[in-house]
Amino acid sequence: MFDFQTDAGLNKPELYEALTQAAQALVYGESDPVANMANLSAVIWQFLPDLNWAGFYRTIGDELVLGPFMGKPACIRIPFGQGVCGTAAASARTQVVPDVHAFPGHIACDAETRSEVVVPVVVDGKVIAVIDLDSPTPSRFDEADAAGLEKLALIAAKAICATP
Ligand code: SME
Repeated sequence: MFDFQTDAGLNKPELYEALTQAAQALVYGESDPVANMANLSAVIWQFLPDLNWAGFYRTIGDELVLGPFMGKPACIRIPFGQGVCGTAAASARTQVVPDVHAFPGHIACDAETRSEVVVPVVVDGKVIAVIDLDSPTPSRFDEADAAGLEKLALIAAKAICATP
C-alpha cells in the first residue's frame, strides 16, 4: 500500500520535492509503462492542488495518443504541432499557458479548463510522451511548476522505458 501524506503548508519547491520522492518510490522496481504512468498520474493528482486533469499522452507515429490520466474523459489523438500538447511535443519544450483561450489552436477537452502546463518526456533526444496538467483557475502554473514537472518528466522517462 502507498499512503503518501501531503502537507498544505509546503511551498512549491518543497511540494515538488515531496512529489518527486513519492514518484520515485512508486515506480521503483517496476518496468510496466502503463502501470507507471497510471501511478504517476495518480500521485500528481494527489499532491498538486487545483487540477481538473492530469495525465499522459504518448507519441505513436506522428501523433500523441491518450495514456493513463486522472480527470474527465479526454481527446484521444492530437497531431504533433497542434494544441498545447502537440506544441510541447513538436518543440520538445515545456509549455506554460496562463490562459488557454489565448493559446492559438488550444484543444478544449473540458470546458472548465482555464490554464495548462505540458512537459515533454524525452528519451534519447526523442519526445516519447508528454505530461499534461489542466486547471480551472487562470494562471495556475508558473516557472516553479515547470521546473518541478521537468524533474518528474525525468523519472517518467525512465519509468516508461524501463527494462525488466
Ligand atoms: N488542451 C490540450 C488537449 C488535452 S486535454 O487538455 C486533456 C491541448 O490543447 O493540447
